[in-house]
Amino acid sequence: MISVTLFSLALLLARSANAATQLDLEAIQAHFTQALIVPALIPTFDPTAVLSAAFSGAEASTGQHMDQKAVGPKPVVTVSSVQDSSLSGNFTIAMVDADVVGTDYGADGVNRHWLENGVTISDGSVSDTSANVITAYAGPGPASGSGPHRYVILLYAQPSTFSAPADLSAPVDGVHKFDLNAYVKDSGLGALVAANYFTVEVGTDSTSLPVTSAVITSTLASAQSSAGPSGSHSGSASASAPAPSNPPNNAVAAKIEMTVAILAAGLSLALL
Ligand SMILES: *[C@@H]1O[C@H](CO)[C@@H](O)[C@H](O)[C@H]1NC(C)=O
Repeated sequence: MISVTLFSLALLLARSANAATQLDLEAIQAHFTQALIVPALIPTFDPTAVLSAAFSGAEASTGQHMDQKAVGPKPVVTVSSVQDSSLSGNFTIAMVDADVVGTDYGADGVNRHWLENGVTISDGSVSDTSANVITAYAGPGPASGSGPHRYVILLYAQPSTFSAPADLSAPVDGVHKFDLNAYVKDSGLGALVAANYFTVEVGTDSTSLPVTSAVITSTLASAQSSAGPSGSHSGSASASAPAPSNPPNNAVAAKIEMTVAILAAGLSLALL
């Protein structure tokens, strides 16, 4: 009986190997605020899942500077939800060029590099086998010397009441500007489930940009609440620490978690 319980626990923990944590969500929210993507591009960001884009197998961590050539082909996008949040049904995926920090998008909006309606999540990956491709993925092409552009990949829930606006209901070739928020509102898209971004810069930056600071995950609410009374995060040295929120760390943590669970199950069998 005990072994059955522990075996279930092992399975549960193994399953959670792909689940995002609350800390992952807070880290990405903090990144979006620090990079001023919120509120300049999107007014608010309260994700329930973590989105990762891998280009030819190499995952782009949040805000990572990517080589323009490397991000030319369409990425494989994976999505992991926190615990039981559902990732079933239809979604809309988009990528826009949020340009450099401090850009005022004006009435024309942002360049649309990718827009597909009706994608689904299959085994944790975005699948477009039954999607309606409006704008096929077009890799970043920032003007030389125009600074580090932020490319934001967004995944919206797409309810059955979704209705594409007339000008974006059929394929549109090439990269064009559009008003992202107006599109989301007018078409009846649902929540912004997950998003991530990377940067691409071509040539030398000749603009002078506002400085954004790094995200210190140890200062986020979840890190502090799970640290307990003995956790000390008051050292000034941590202020210059790089953001330790990269997915590889999660993968290692998940493997350790799974190993512990399997050892626990094995131990319980040995005790019987
Ligand atoms: C998803 O979209 C397809 C058409 O693209 C539709 O047939 C199906 O009912 C939709 N599913 C949901 C859950 O809305």
